[in-house]
Order: sequence, then C-alpha cells, then structure tokens
Amino acid sequence: MRRKLAAGNWKMNGGNAELDGLRTLSQIHSGAAIDILICPPFTLIAAAAECAGSIAIGGQNCHSDASGAHTGDISAQMLADVGASAVILGHSERRADHSETSEDVRAKAHAAHAAGLITIICVGESLDQREAQNTLDIIGGQLSTSVPDTATGENTVIAYEPCWAIGTGLTPTTDQIGDVHDFIRTRLEKRLGTGAGRSIRLLYGGSVKAANAAEIFAVSNVDGALVGGASLKSDDFSPIISALEAAANVS
Ligand code: 13P
Repeated sequence: MRRKLAAGNWKMNGGNAELDGLRTLSQIHSGAAIDILICPPFTLIAAAAECAGSIAIGGQNCHSDASGAHTGDISAQMLADVGASAVILGHSERRADHSETSEDVRAKAHAAHAAGLITIICVGESLDQREAQNTLDIIGGQLSTSVPDTATGENTVIAYEPCWAIGTGLTPTTDQIGDVHDFIRTRLEKRLGTGAGRSIRLLYGGSVKAANAAEIFAVSNVDGALVGGASLKSDDFSPIISALEAAANVS
C-alpha cells in the first residue's frame, strides 16, 4: 500500500517568520499516519529542518552536477547536507522560467537519487494542449523523458500539475484528474514493471485547498497533493493534511 503524502511547495515565498507556522503544523500533526513534506526556499531549508519535527523538508530544484563552477546553483548533495530529504524537479514554473527540458529533469533526478533524495517529478499540460486534446500525449512524453529508469517507489514521486490549474483557482474535474492519474500509473507499470510502477506515489497539484481536498483525495490513484498557495499558512494547510489523513483511513 502506498503511504499518502501531503507536500507543500512554498515557491519564492517565506522568511524566518514563517517557520512559526511550520512548528505549529508539526505539533498539530505529530502523530500523522501519512507523510508530510514542506519545500521552502533554499534560504530556509536548514532552519526548517531544525524545527519541523516529523515533517520532512525538501528543496524546489537542484543542479545535475554534484559540485563545480555553477554560480548561484545548489547541488542535490548540498540540499541533503542541510537536512533536505526530497526535491521537487521539473515544476512547470521552472520549465517555463528557466527553459528546463525533460532531459534536464532526468539528469537532475539522477543527481538527486545519488544524493539520497526523494524526487518529486512534475508533469502537466498547458490549457492549449488540453483544449487540443493532447493532454495524455504531453504527459506521456514528459514522463518517459523526465523519469529515470532507476525510479522506484522509495526514490520517486510523480506530481500531476496541469499548468492552467496552478494558482488560478481552477481545477480539473475529478474525472479528468482520475483519467490522467490512471494513465500515469499504467505508463509507470509498463515501463518499470508492476513492483516499482505500482509503488510510486502520484500527487495531484493545482489550486488544492481545504474546500476541494476531500473530493480530490477520493480519486483513484491520487496518493496525495502538491500544494502551493494553501501550504503557506498552517491554518490553510492543516485541514488539507487532515483530509488526506481521513482518506488514508478509508483506503
Ligand atoms: P497552487 O496550489 O498555488 O495552485 O500551486 C500548485 C503548485 O504549483 C504546487 O507545486
């Protein structure tokens, strides 16, 4: 059985003051039977790892090299060194803002796995691609190139994040989410075998909030969420975590 995962992506938000909310969250959910992960900006990772209790801490990107002349970049090993246990890779904002390709994402995933980090590899279609009914082709292509052959349930999580649902308040229907998640599961099983293919967790991301969390968590092959805006405040993220704990008790 796949353990549920509630992950928060703080993006380029938050300073030391926001660590109070992280402490609160870790107290409220200290005995949770699900995994909770917060990915703050690089600047907060070390401090967050100190105060997060059983909440895991992750990065939002890493370089594909272990070290070297890459001014301003951070390696996977450096993330691990300051207490991160995971890293988000291939988020659509990085694919758009930094022209990251799926080949780049796979190279980064290899580096992250070598450093012992869990990778959360993001895939998702644009609105134009969905309207042109290309969603599954796009997701299939991103998956086959971004995910390394060495992916397992222990080292890899996939997040389906439709670009048009991120930060917009729009969400796909539960049928649309289910179709994509079932497709991803089938693709992973075919490529990696049923062992790894069935054990990799699939997160949904894009305008998840307390009001829609329970219905999204009831969809087949949804093992949790990657939450942006609603992960910034403990008051907003806590009910989403609780909804996932409730879903874990049912399944
Ligand atoms: P929102 O939850 O703010 O839509 O962001 C989703 C996301 O991009 C998480 O990685």
